[in-house]
Amino acid sequence: DCQANAFLKELPMMNETITEKPDFDFENFTFGVQATDQMLVAKYENGAWSNFQIGPVKNISLSPLAMCLHYGQTVFEGLKAFKTTDGKINIFRLESHFKRMNRSLERMAMPALPASCFIDGIRELVSKESQWVIDDPEYALYIRPFAIATENKLGVDASHDYLFMVILSPLKAYYNSPLRVVVETNYIRSAKGGAGAAKNGGNYGASLLPQQKAKKEGFDQIIWLDSNEKKYIEESGTMNIMFILNGKTLLTPALSDSILDGITRDSIIKLAPELNLEVEERSIQISEIIDRIASGEQVEGFGVGTAAVISPIKEISYKGDSFETYVQEDAGMYRIKEMLSEIRRGIRPDPFGWSDLV
Ligand code: COI
Repeated sequence: DCQANAFLKELPMMNETITEKPDFDFENFTFGVQATDQMLVAKYENGAWSNFQIGPVKNISLSPLAMCLHYGQTVFEGLKAFKTTDGKINIFRLESHFKRMNRSLERMAMPALPASCFIDGIRELVSKESQWVIDDPEYALYIRPFAIATENKLGVDASHDYLFMVILSPLKAYYNSPLRVVVETNYIRSAKGGAGAAKNGGNYGASLLPQQKAKKEGFDQIIWLDSNEKKYIEESGTMNIMFILNGKTLLTPALSDSILDGITRDSIIKLAPELNLEVEERSIQISEIIDRIASGEQVEGFGVGTAAVISPIKEISYKGDSFETYVQEDAGMYRIKEMLSEIRRGIRPDPFGWSDLV
């Protein structure tokens, strides 16, 4: 056990709460280019996590031999804190993100984090930075925990030393308008048996070139197909993908080792019955979606992830042809987004225990 609680209490900064509003333009900013004032850092050495510290955000120093710089032993998470309408701070699905972090760490041969480090550490950091969680239905404080291999060694191996850090960054709408997406028929995001289910940096790095090519052709995002047959839908961009068929069925690819076990995906599946949507998690051929649209069915398509929550898709391009999905105001995906937002802000009851109030 890293004894984070005891350690955190000993830190001189811990009792100091900053109350004034940060000098930051909350109306007009780009996501992810600014961290808040403080960060959490912990070290893994000699087989244990220790040395927890919350302090000012500062640069870290690494040897050029540090293993994370060479062989991709990195894992991250992304979650959000919201202001509830009665003034509390809600860290949404903290425990689910903790569990997924540890599944990703395991896949990348990295040591698991104890709950006391991840959960208590994030609670403590967010409550110290509470002035960054403003009351605005479009706003969230994005929480980025991550771990990197820090042993200095060029031999390909699992590192013995690691750093775990948590930084926070303000976030408003991630994508602003419905997306044009193209089905990628050459590159794949992740192969069966690969690390696609882990939130490992390499999965995102490998997606950049195909994404750049899609952008050049005028598309906002990619729909990824499976590695074996290039027939089945896997994800969209950096998100899981869902469809609503004729306003009745919520359809999404079943999880596998090449698909990220999205927490927003899971939240939506659990909320679906309240919206009278029947859930189907199964393999979905791209041709099924194309055929349904072509035959005049009402098909909604949308990316789902923590950062963007729901990203409506307005057009799917497949092998040079274009197919329009349903994005009218009465689309079910907007109701789902609203429902999630209401739970997060404490307006709607949270029967699943997803809210972690600090
Ligand atoms: C998400 O959709 O939450 C993501 O994973 C995107 C993130 C890498 C910014």
